[in-house]
Amino acid sequence: MKRVLQALADSLEAQSGSMTAALCDALRRSKGDTHLPPCEPPPAGRMLDQILATGNPDPHPLLAEVARSRETLAWYGARPERIPEAIGARLFFVELLGPDGMVFCDRCRLGLLLQMPESHYPEHAHAADELYLVLSGTAEWRSEGSEPALRPPGSFIHHPGRQRHAMTTQEEALLAVWAWTGDIGFESYSIEAGP
Ligand SMILES: [Fe+2]
Repeated sequence: MKRVLQALADSLEAQSGSMTAALCDALRRSKGDTHLPPCEPPPAGRMLDQILATGNPDPHPLLAEVARSRETLAWYGARPERIPEAIGARLFFVELLGPDGMVFCDRCRLGLLLQMPESHYPEHAHAADELYLVLSGTAEWRSEGSEPALRPPGSFIHHPGRQRHAMTTQEEALLAVWAWTGDIGFESYSIEAGP
């Protein structure tokens, strides 16, 4: 786990700013001791197989780290009390670092998001500042106050706290790193009921 956390820090350093500085500091300080057993729900496993087998001529370097650490990752489905089931069934997460994460950290949350193809993660918002780094899949990203945009692998997307945002996949699944800093509790999380 230490190795994947270091690789994440290396990738996030490409993006300047106080948020990435805080995340890189937390990643580099972490000893990498994991507190959760591995878990890979079958739909997520099948989709990861496809993503990792895709003959992308220029794969994101972190994909190799995801593949290398795959047997250790603790994936979980969306919490039904947080995200309506019809939407949440298409979303899978790993919290690599965080209060509920594989590696404990009380200052930030950082992990992986897998959003299945042809699915819509409706507008949602939370108090935490959020950063995404797309590893695989070009999805449509919407942020309050901006035009919708297709974001290919390698894209960094920043959502300031409480900005509403949504993602829609087409034929490709989306695999991305996500990170929260600031107020990282879920009490402020809100989501639209449907597409
Ligand atoms: Fe978000």
